[in-house]
Amino acid sequence: MNIQVLDPLVAQQVAAGEVVDRPASVVKELVENSLDAGATRVEVEVGDGGTSRILVRDDGSGMPPEDARLSVLRHATSKIRTAGDIESVATLGFRGEALPSVASVSAFTLTTSIGEGPGTKVVVDGGGPAEVSAAAHPKGTTVLVDRIFYNVPARRAFLKGPRAERAAITETLTHLATAHPEVAFRLSENGRDYLSLPVAGDLLERLAQVHGVAKARAMRRIEYKSGAFEVSGYAALPSLTEGSRAHQTVSVNGRFVRADNLNRGLDDAYRQTVPGGRYPPAALRIAVDPRRVDVNVHPTKQVVRFSEERAARGAVASAVREAIEWRPPAPSAAPRPAERTFTQDRLTRSSPRPGYAPSFAAEDQPAYPAPAAQSLREARERVAEASRPLAERREPYREPYEPPERGDLPPLEDLRVIGQLAAGYILVEEPESLWVVDQHVAHERAILDRLNDAESPAGVQSLLIPEVVELSASEAMKAAENLEELSVYGFEAEPFGPRSVRVTAVISTLADRDVVGAFKDALAAVTGTDPGHSREDRILATIACHSAVKMGDRLSHPEMEALVKDWLTSRLPATCPHGRSICFRLGINEIGRKLDRH
Ligand SMILES: Nc1ncnc2c1ncn2[C@@H]1O[C@H](COP(=O)(O)OP(=O)(O)OP(=O)(O)O)[C@@H](O)[C@H]1O
Ligand SMILES: [Mg+2]
Repeated sequence: MNIQVLDPLVAQQVAAGEVVDRPASVVKELVENSLDAGATRVEVEVGDGGTSRILVRDDGSGMPPEDARLSVLRHATSKIRTAGDIESVATLGFRGEALPSVASVSAFTLTTSIGEGPGTKVVVDGGGPAEVSAAAHPKGTTVLVDRIFYNVPARRAFLKGPRAERAAITETLTHLATAHPEVAFRLSENGRDYLSLPVAGDLLERLAQVHGVAKARAMRRIEYKSGAFEVSGYAALPSLTEGSRAHQTVSVNGRFVRADNLNRGLDDAYRQTVPGGRYPPAALRIAVDPRRVDVNVHPTKQVVRFSEERAARGAVASAVREAIEWRPPAPSAAPRPAERTFTQDRLTRSSPRPGYAPSFAAEDQPAYPAPAAQSLREARERVAEASRPLAERREPYREPYEPPERGDLPPLEDLRVIGQLAAGYILVEEPESLWVVDQHVAHERAILDRLNDAESPAGVQSLLIPEVVELSASEAMKAAENLEELSVYGFEAEPFGPRSVRVTAVISTLADRDVVGAFKDALAAVTGTDPGHSREDRILATIACHSAVKMGDRLSHPEMEALVKDWLTSRLPATCPHGRSICFRLGINEIGRKLDRH
């Protein structure tokens, strides 16, 4: 044996392997530095999925020339002074290793400025000596990492293709963005945006940007405290799952971590309701006394250790379970089922709506606190405006309604309901005529109009007794894929055994109707195609049809009056959703003729 002390450069390259093993870990380190520097906007540009080029630009504090020179030296950090500081470290970095590690395995350039005086450029090639020069740069820092691992061929050989490396970067950046909604993020390659996330007002808005509004709606708020742990954030209902943990973000004291123990806590919460290998999206923030968590157990700082591991896992499990579990209303609750404000998730609607944050008496509180409609709407608008790739997913813009075309329908005030014919037609008197109205079609028209009307949100009502819908194997598959979209239309449903779904809430007009039929038809409408009609139109038409009174429903006089009023005050009373006739008129002259009164 012949022991030799390694050449410092070799030692650094070996050590670098612990900190950076692929482009995504470079992105993580650089973006965390940007966040530590107080950036409000972080832009990442990559070439070939980061394998040829990674650039991270921020508008943070920047560094004065002397700090810039020191920043690429090993164990050089502005973030701690003594080992004891790690116990209470508030920054994401503290090891003083990231920049020297990256610089030792790439062609590295850092350009920075504090916004006054000359900026500084530091160039390091493969861990060689740093070349420092003056350079212009706006306040902030740009780090360019070219040809990662060009001088460590063994490592370079482990890189996957650009697509896989880009996917890993996207995932990492999505986690960081979820942990930091207050910062704008962008990831692009050759001018194409892979992520474009404007500053979000809060976590829910960030989740809506990342997952889309429909999925964000299926997420429930977490607010939980137990012993040393405070858990907050959002977790999806079990009906919404993904094939990996890519959309489960856990942060501890502001640091995004990959902690097996905490992930298991999430799994515990969903064990009864989600099949193995499926992962509902979640964004958890855990706040804990920093002395009870060790962040310095792994070079990437993504692994953390708690002094009470079991309690940490238990806190996550209980917090998530509490948020997603349906609990029957407390016995003191009003006999009426809980109702809450609900709006259609309509990306096409841009007309401003009045604020109607859900508000209900405490005892009427639904078991699932719904995300605040108002902030979702704002989220939707911001996403649409500021984020191109997300905006492209919007449904095509639809023209707003034409002004009502009433045709020759009578004015409401001249009418008098006479009665019902054969439990299917309402007979209405206008001074000089008799109108025969198809009660189902007229009601359907009125309901559809209300559903379409962004100004008058419909309520979602929890069912006192959930309805179980039996499905065929193929329907069950479709249902599993589309539950979260259906939730946008008020159907709160979850898988219930392999071939059925349990519906726990519906739009209030459906509550005492054929929920099973409506769910099945809505499912068919979500998955089917119908030329000329948007998905949303199809689903709303289905809901309206099932909500409406049927042929054969006996109606009281006031019910008929209300129905006729609803119908005639809707915007398109003359048109049936399916193009059928709604009513016909029999003039007094015609009646007279038939009775030989010439
Ligand atoms: N984007 C940036 N803006 C401002 N200062 C930065 C930036 N990136 C790095 N720095 C400065 O350079 C120093 C070294 O960065 P480096 O990432 O190597 O170490 P660290 O962040 O202190 O610790 P760690 O190795 O845990 O990340 C930081 O302490 C910080 O002062
Ligand atoms: Mg760092």
